Amino acid sequence: QEQLYSFNVCLGFLCVEKRFSDAESMKPLFFLIDEDLHDEGGVFLGISGTGSPVVLNLWKKPNQNFVIIGSTGSGKSMAAKIFVKRTKEMDESIPVVGIDPESEYTRAFSKLQVEAVEIKDGEPLGLDPLRLMRDGALGIGQVSDIIAEAYSIPEKLQGTLRKELFLASDLVESIIDFSSVVRDKELSKYLQGASVPPDSYVFQGSPFFLERSVIFGLRNVRSKRLKILISALISSYSINKLLAKAKKSIFFVDEAWLFMETPNIVSLFENLARRGRKHGVAFLYITQRSEDLAKNPSGRDIMEQSSSVFLMRQEPQGREAVKGIYRLSESEADFLVNAPIGSGILKSWGKKVTMRIIPTEDELEAFSTNVR
Ligand SMILES: Nc1ncnc2c1ncn2[C@@H]1O[C@H](COP(=O)(O)OP(=O)(O)O)[C@@H](O)[C@H]1O
Ligand SMILES: [Mg+2]
Repeated sequence: QEQLYSFNVCLGFLCVEKRFSDAESMKPLFFLIDEDLHDEGGVFLGISGTGSPVVLNLWKKPNQNFVIIGSTGSGKSMAAKIFVKRTKEMDESIPVVGIDPESEYTRAFSKLQVEAVEIKDGEPLGLDPLRLMRDGALGIGQVSDIIAEAYSIPEKLQGTLRKELFLASDLVESIIDFSSVVRDKELSKYLQGASVPPDSYVFQGSPFFLERSVIFGLRNVRSKRLKILISALISSYSINKLLAKAKKSIFFVDEAWLFMETPNIVSLFENLARRGRKHGVAFLYITQRSEDLAKNPSGRDIMEQSSSVFLMRQEPQGREAVKGIYRLSESEADFLVNAPIGSGILKSWGKKVTMRIIPTEDELEAFSTNVR
């Protein structure tokens, strides 16, 4: 078995002898889906239920979107880290930008050429949506959606917001200026928060220099509202600034359920994923609560339109959502409810395999979250 493992790795990405953490992983999963997934030029992720290596190349699919869905502790982040790390090991030149709400990727990537930026409250970020709009990173509709979400602007005022943005966009430099020239009194009240801390810090200053791979840790941003606002702005900025300029790149969002209650932001992500596709941006959407994602129209689009999806252990309440969307059989859905850590069903462009992610000993050590 050991030998087979080393051989598999050799097929996968690097022809180097590696020691894996668990030599028993070859035990077949509860049932077998009789397929192999072995994409040319891909990364080795793990072993399928039938015992063959699973090698995935997102850039060989109709689109590069990759959704990883599973309950807390099912091994989603480990799978994402392994995918990103092995991709970087294979091709150093692929830029990566990540949104890491729990700041858990920082340590994992310290050895790769990936910068970790820890965002803190009260530091100027220079992420002004109007500036991003001028630079072409955001459209006016997206700016208005982001503002509406961040300042809880009621539906009935959103048309006014869009109109005023349109009229003011050539005249004002920043959202802070905008909030002071808004004519509609009611709307103006909603926008007051934009020009004072903590929000003003998000908008003021000059934007960070984005030249190479960066992972943004957001654990120290206390307000959930700001976390969401900052994530939305960073995502648009980095896709425009860095990722769309490379031939292949990776953008990931972990803990994406955070955005589920803000439909405009889920829709922004869906839009970025769609835009990114044309530029070879692999969009990784990592989340729990599949049932909530499925309820949100843009969330459902993200689930349905990704060429690759890794379904990991599901809460019983998420079972029907994934079963319906991914057309699973009863036994497949049952398997997901009880799936062991690191295991699940990988569907990728018409193929379906059960798989267990196999970390090397080093990866398990560096990527585990429970050994802080
Ligand atoms: N493929 C795997 N093989 C062995 N252990 C794993 C695997 N994936 C995850 N683990 C263990 O489970 C823990 C939780 O995994 P994690 O990826 O953080 O879960 P999630 O992101 O789904 O909440 C990790 O810290 C690690 O110790
Ligand atoms: Mg996680």
